[in-house]
Amino acid sequence: MGRLKVGVLISGRGSNLQALLDACADPAFPAEIALVISNVAAAEGLDRAAKAGVATLAIDHKDFPDRESFDAKMDEALRAAGIELVCLAGFMRLLSTGFVEGWRGRMINIHPSLLPAFKGLHTHAQALAAGVAEHGCTVHWVTPALDDGPAILQGRVPVLAGDTVETLAARVLEAEHRLYPEALRLIARDSSLRSE
Ligand code: GAR
Repeated sequence: MGRLKVGVLISGRGSNLQALLDACADPAFPAEIALVISNVAAAEGLDRAAKAGVATLAIDHKDFPDRESFDAKMDEALRAAGIELVCLAGFMRLLSTGFVEGWRGRMINIHPSLLPAFKGLHTHAQALAAGVAEHGCTVHWVTPALDDGPAILQGRVPVLAGDTVETLAARVLEAEHRLYPEALRLIARDSSLRSE
């Protein structure tokens, strides 16, 4: 059986994309990244993908009249590339319900908190303000409600005395880089997602 064909959507730095690219560089890994799409043409993640020999596409959301038409363009590109699973990796655009429904059960996201705690933005500041002892990250299935789909895996880190948003974010990001490839491995082992 072939490797699961993955499309990754990004908006910026792409360090989680890099973790996925590194995992997929092992021929024994059950998934391969076939396309990386960014809504920001200057995203560092596009260079990371190109260096790894992966096809890239910049689709600027500002070129489209509404969210639906932008999403439709991404959908077309993903399907044309034969993508079987979409990974959101720091993709900072809300997705239309139609797009999410079209990829239901075939789209996952990484979020920098232990969901259901701290949805949305500024999760590390939210965690510090709440005074929690533990923080982390979640890989979850994407459903129409923001940061709300069923969790696949979570990575936990301690919140330490004296932590700032920056120190806590760095600790969580390390956990993200371990968690996302592990979640992808688990899903890719499930042959029901493959189209062949
Ligand atoms: C990551 O921390 C990811 O969890 C977060 O954006 C960052 C992207 O970094 N995603 C979200 O907040 C989505 N709600 P990266 O571009 O270096 O992977």
